[in-house]
Amino acid sequence: MSSTKVLVLCATGKAGRNVCKALKDAGFEVYGTTRSNAKKLSDQGITPVVCDYTSRKDLDRALLETGAKKLFVVTDYFAAAKSNGAIEISHGKSAIDAAKAAAVDHLIFMSVADAELMDERVKHIKTKVVIEDYLRASGVKYSILRPCAFFENFDDPANWNPLKKGRLKFLSDQEIKYCATYDIGRAAAIMFKDPAKWLEKSLDVISWKGDLSQVASALEKVGGVKVKSGLAMPLFLRKLFLKDLHYMFLYFEDQKGPKGEPEDFKTFLPDAFTAEDWFRYHGSYSNGERIARA
Ligand SMILES: NC(=O)c1ccc[n+]([C@@H]2O[C@H](COP(=O)([O-])OP(=O)(O)OC[C@H]3O[C@@H](n4cnc5c(N)ncnc54)[C@H](OP(=O)(O)O)[C@@H]3O)[C@@H](O)[C@H]2O)c1
Repeated sequence: MSSTKVLVLCATGKAGRNVCKALKDAGFEVYGTTRSNAKKLSDQGITPVVCDYTSRKDLDRALLETGAKKLFVVTDYFAAAKSNGAIEISHGKSAIDAAKAAAVDHLIFMSVADAELMDERVKHIKTKVVIEDYLRASGVKYSILRPCAFFENFDDPANWNPLKKGRLKFLSDQEIKYCATYDIGRAAAIMFKDPAKWLEKSLDVISWKGDLSQVASALEKVGGVKVKSGLAMPLFLRKLFLKDLHYMFLYFEDQKGPKGEPEDFKTFLPDAFTAEDWFRYHGSYSNGERIARA
């Protein structure tokens, strides 16, 4: 039945892989785009669609081949758009245009919580405001999910932050609001299953908050090993070399953003992940060693 098919863009990424898993767990027939990691997806029970999501021609083909009328859109500022906001916006618009041409009956766009409230220098997030506006005016039936910081950032070897036993590093040690990308997928499943309730609606995905020492305590509880935590780099280097992320963290740290609270999201997903839940779910350190004691 075409109505149970979902096509997920960027399906091998930090968000996409767990969105695929959650949608599959919720009973959907899940297709995921990847340029070259088809096996990674098929090993997960996801049907790979080998294509480049940044190409409109490829997107048209992916929608036609799968027959999916539900589309989960992720855009990637840093790698796919080469840290160029105009390019990321063009990728988002192209996905929306492709959905319109294929008569998709529900598109969910993964944006970012409080995108409109952040400093203009947070370029990778301000792009989301433009894509959301384009989507609202497009005529495509849509919902928007607005996640906060991913727990997945604690194990992100591609960005020089692999999770190691006994150590936890991050770009901020202050209280931050987090979510698991699996819960973005669980929220997407809720929306896809009840379009009457969710079309034209947005939902912030925020499931837990805590400072770095509290994240470390959660890892200690799950792993049974003492964890030393600290900043991945001094703040002056964060400001100097990661300006975009620096101003995003200042919004989190100084303004306690995003405004939503875990309790709000939990009215829709009561068992949304805490930090401990996430370490259990994630399961292993970057080198493959299991986190939880046997
Ligand atoms: N990190 C956070 O805390 C956070 C929080 C809220 C929102 N977000 C948003 O999440 C989005 C990024 O998602 P993510 O972290 O899941 O991304 P990611 O892990 O970096 O994955 C992005 C995907 O894009 C594909 N890709 C990479 N380079 C490409 C290229 N040159 N051309 C075409 N495709 C390419 C890759 O798929 P293949 O190689 O398989 O093709 C990859 O799986 C961003 O918009 C960000 O603003 C992040």
